Amino acid sequence: MKKYITDFTIIGKRILGEQYFTLTLQHPATLPPIAAGQFVEVEVRGCKEVLLRRPISIHDVDTENNTLTLLIQIVGKGTRQLATLQEGDTLNLVYPLGRGFSLDGEKVLLVGGGAGIAPLLHLSKCLNAKGIRPTILLGGRTADLIPVRDEFKSLGTVGIATEDGSLGEKGLVTQHTLFSGDYDHIYTCGPTPMMKAVARHALANGIVCEVSLENLMACGIGACLCCVVDSDAGHKCVCKEGPVFKATELTKWLNN
Ligand SMILES: Cc1cc2nc3c(=O)[nH]c(=O)nc-3n(C[C@H](O)[C@H](O)[C@H](O)COP(=O)(O)OP(=O)(O)OC[C@H]3O[C@@H](n4cnc5c(N)ncnc54)[C@H](O)[C@@H]3O)c2cc1C
Ligand code: FES
Repeated sequence: MKKYITDFTIIGKRILGEQYFTLTLQHPATLPPIAAGQFVEVEVRGCKEVLLRRPISIHDVDTENNTLTLLIQIVGKGTRQLATLQEGDTLNLVYPLGRGFSLDGEKVLLVGGGAGIAPLLHLSKCLNAKGIRPTILLGGRTADLIPVRDEFKSLGTVGIATEDGSLGEKGLVTQHTLFSGDYDHIYTCGPTPMMKAVARHALANGIVCEVSLENLMACGIGACLCCVVDSDAGHKCVCKEGPVFKATELTKWLNN
């Protein structure tokens, strides 16, 4: 798939608590097709200490208005600098990167944790466009760490799990009552321990599972090899051959 380097204009910014924000970005022309699970490499301007672009999932796509939305958690210098951007500023993106979710399955469960919730909105919309209404489980340590939830309500059955019980069921997403339902396909993105627990459950129950890895990245295009995962078929670049992999490709990773 062709890659682009484009200056987008920020046309919307939402602050979602202390850690999260969204940026809605206007493309100057017609957006190319963007698969659910693909990501962008964002240039961080104005911070001398941040030389490399930062990988961020595509949270939402509006093809009528040619906009993309990114959901970003502030964790370090780059994301803190991005949080200073305002409407009217420009943001340079390399996109669309990586291999996205398959959109296969009929009885579909999505499991997201923290910033890993980001790609699940575009995924839910793409599944809806195929006539599939997924069950969507969102988890976080506290309610504040589940940055978006209302956006999912019209797209499927939504369940929330928080470790402190401040929202939804108390506990991990894998302990939520919806988790052990009857599914033939699970898609997951979030903290590694969560994805491993979800993938192990899927493998043990004969459910197809796709995980979206968030390894540290630099180039984002398969050139620097800093993002490799030790898959069952050898080392694979998460940025180019992923970030989405079938759990059956990653049994070594799962057992680590
Ligand atoms: C394919 C992909 C998609 C992603 N999508 C999103 C998204 O939609 N929204 C979002 O908020 N974040 C996302 N991330 C994570 C995001 O890229 C990092 O949080 C960001 O690069 C951190 O940059 P920084 O300069 O703020 O932090 P740094 O100063 O570089 O690091 C601060 C801390 O964050 C940790 N960190 C850095 N990169 C990652 C990473 N990739 N995963 C986990 N921890 C990391 C570092 O180890 C360090 O502890 C994604 C990562 C990948 C690989
Ligand atoms: S980030 Fe450079 S090869 Fe993946």
